[in-house]
Amino acid sequence: MNRPLFVHSNGQILDRLIKESNNVAMITTSMVQALQWITNPDMEISGVFLSPDDTSFSAFRFLEIALTHRPALPVFLFESTLNRNNENGQRVMKSTHIKGIFSGTEPFQTLISSLKTHLTTTDVVPRKVPQESIIAGYTALPISDFFTGTHYPYNIFIVADDGAIRLFAEKESSIDPTYLSKAAQRNRYLYVREDEVEESRTAIHTAKSNFLDNPDYPPGWKTAEVMVNARAVLNEMKQAGVNESLVEYTQAMLGDLFKLISKIESDEEGTLSSMIDKAQKCDRSVFCASYSMLICKQLRFEKTATLEILGLASVLQDIALYKTPYGDLSDKLSDELPPQQLAYYQQHPTQSADLVAHHTDVPQVTLQVIRQHHERKDKSGFPNRVGGTQLHPMAEILSLINSYYEVAKKHTSDAEVIITLNKTIFPHYSENIVNAFKQVLGNILKDKIHAAHAAQVAGI
Ligand SMILES: [Fe+2]
Repeated sequence: MNRPLFVHSNGQILDRLIKESNNVAMITTSMVQALQWITNPDMEISGVFLSPDDTSFSAFRFLEIALTHRPALPVFLFESTLNRNNENGQRVMKSTHIKGIFSGTEPFQTLISSLKTHLTTTDVVPRKVPQESIIAGYTALPISDFFTGTHYPYNIFIVADDGAIRLFAEKESSIDPTYLSKAAQRNRYLYVREDEVEESRTAIHTAKSNFLDNPDYPPGWKTAEVMVNARAVLNEMKQAGVNESLVEYTQAMLGDLFKLISKIESDEEGTLSSMIDKAQKCDRSVFCASYSMLICKQLRFEKTATLEILGLASVLQDIALYKTPYGDLSDKLSDELPPQQLAYYQQHPTQSADLVAHHTDVPQVTLQVIRQHHERKDKSGFPNRVGGTQLHPMAEILSLINSYYEVAKKHTSDAEVIITLNKTIFPHYSENIVNAFKQVLGNILKDKIHAAHAAQVAGI
């Protein structure tokens, strides 16, 4: 039986779909898991419903892989800010080969209404194509992949009785179930031309390469793509250490992050707080980079300096903590560490700066900010208790964000976080930097409250 596959970052929506489908639907919060199912030869799938807000994997990459393995499978999008009837919704569907867009609040039956279910396979056609059915220049697809679509996504070919390959249905023509059923009795596979599928893959690739500049793509999708890319940079750094080409890769990622932040600040409610939330879940250094860009904008710092100094320092600040004699200490909170590990931890700003200086040509001022990223204006920070005018303003910003990150990790309510910041953190920093920080935090919290209210009204 062909079953619909749902991938969504919202567990509540998935729970509802499990119940409404009587456990028929295949459901996961992970795009990586969904890809394993799609590429598994034994899985019979009727359609895929995808949420591009997932920060664990690129939705564009997912679409490319899905297209490679299952070009006939209808793929739909869960996206509450896009509308399939609007012009931009139509353009997104066209550029990514998506068959429809849903908000996620629709009942299960509505979601699957466009998937034909009256056709069933009597015996399972293996997805691994036997040698005798392979034809050069064509991709063979089990005929069951076409049973749930409404239109043929490509020109479709069939092997006739005389062994010749002939056109079976033209691209975009409607799928006639009776006709397809008859064909299914004699043919286990239908064929698409490899170059046609390749063209679609290239189109998705092109869409991916300039997605940040394309106003058609929703901010949640853009944020997820930037976070996926940031995570890839950090994973590479954790495994291979830092080198000049990785710094270039990081700079490109920071450029994207800056562009994203510039755009979403003026976007609709909820986009800014959701971006910060995703950055926080992604990684401490990505969170620091995102937050520091917002503060620099507030203080009207110049873009290049923001990226070259503070952005780069945010990403490289904890590089010495990735591989220590005590394992990866980068996401540990300092007051939870035993004495020996704490002693090591307190030296990491200097060690990170030394590592970066040894392997790259990063400017001296960026190294200084890395060295001072836990120092405080009143000289109560570490490792060297530097403060006053010796403390670089960008290092002070990074230090304040790091302190905030630790406070936010320990407290669940925003009110508790603010009380703790006021009592134990803000007094250690300069007034102008604290004020800029408060302004940014205030904007994010306001945005979060407005978004929660809007979601309540919409019933999401
Ligand atoms: Fe650090």
